[in-house]
Amino acid sequence: MEQFVDAGANSNIIGTDAPRPQDKNPEGIDRIIAIASGKGGVGKSTVSANLAVALAAKGLKVGLLDADVYGPSQPRMLGVSGRPSSPDGQTILPLRNHGVTLMSLGLMTPEDEAIIWRGPMLMGALEQMMNQVEWGKLDVLLVDLPPGTGDVQMTLSQKFFVAGAVVVSTPQDIALLDARKGIDMFKRMEVPLFGLIENMASFVCDGCGKEHHPFGSGGARAEAEKLGAPFLGEIPLDLDIRIGADGGVPIVVSKPDSPQAQAFSRIAEQLINSETYAQAVL
Ligand SMILES: Nc1ncnc2c1ncn2[C@@H]1O[C@H](COP(=O)(O)OP(=O)(O)OP(=O)(O)O)[C@@H](O)[C@H]1O
Ligand SMILES: [Mg+2]
Ligand SMILES: [Zn+2]
Repeated sequence: MEQFVDAGANSNIIGTDAPRPQDKNPEGIDRIIAIASGKGGVGKSTVSANLAVALAAKGLKVGLLDADVYGPSQPRMLGVSGRPSSPDGQTILPLRNHGVTLMSLGLMTPEDEAIIWRGPMLMGALEQMMNQVEWGKLDVLLVDLPPGTGDVQMTLSQKFFVAGAVVVSTPQDIALLDARKGIDMFKRMEVPLFGLIENMASFVCDGCGKEHHPFGSGGARAEAEKLGAPFLGEIPLDLDIRIGADGGVPIVVSKPDSPQAQAFSRIAEQLINSETYAQAVL
């Protein structure tokens, strides 16, 4: 990392000579797709979990790496508990649920215990979760990132061949420019952009049955257009999505025919039909 970042006043400037690793992915993983956002709490983990099961439902071999090393949430969202085993003391056997292979630091620590390692240890943990886990043959490994443009994002893009990034934002996130920062970072890291997803775009009201847009609408679509990036779709703000995510059964599994689940399914389809996806295989 030190070779790419000037730690001084211009610490946001990344050297232009940063090479993209071309052959560093763990054996058997065809594509790494990063799920990112500028701001926290916009629904990256919810989107990651639902996209993972939607892709698996389309017959793909799917892994999900919870790279939110400070606040891992995938064990809860995918309803996975228990500790991964390591019969040989070298490699770690990941756990599986809903057709998705999962690895998360949250599986290695009690849920209510804070992870208090320092940065370098966490980057070591990220690399270990990539390299020492028996992922098996995967068409896609989704990586659920922590918010922002920090060490985890940089380490992932520099040490591995990331097929592309999906940026999740809420309508007001776009208004606050945070998502643009995330997009800008991947651009500088030469990671292609699959496109933008607008989460919590609207809700259907209990009272009047109409669709409301509490944060305005169309922000992410407009932003994507401005950036020349694909707009992958919108996900409504919805109680069932929240209950599914926090209860370990993503809505794509519990109510696959619901419009909300269909929205995730369409996004999964767009991803695998995109040029970025076709070009990404090593
Ligand atoms: N479309 C949605 N409708 C309803 N609730 C949602 C939706 N998307 C996410 N949530 C809820 O919002 C909360 C935050 O979502 P989530 O944890 O996925 O965000 P995040 O971007 O991963 O957050 P962090 O930055 O902390 O990692 C969760 O309780 C989740 O269930
Ligand atoms: Mg998260
Ligand atoms: Zn209403």
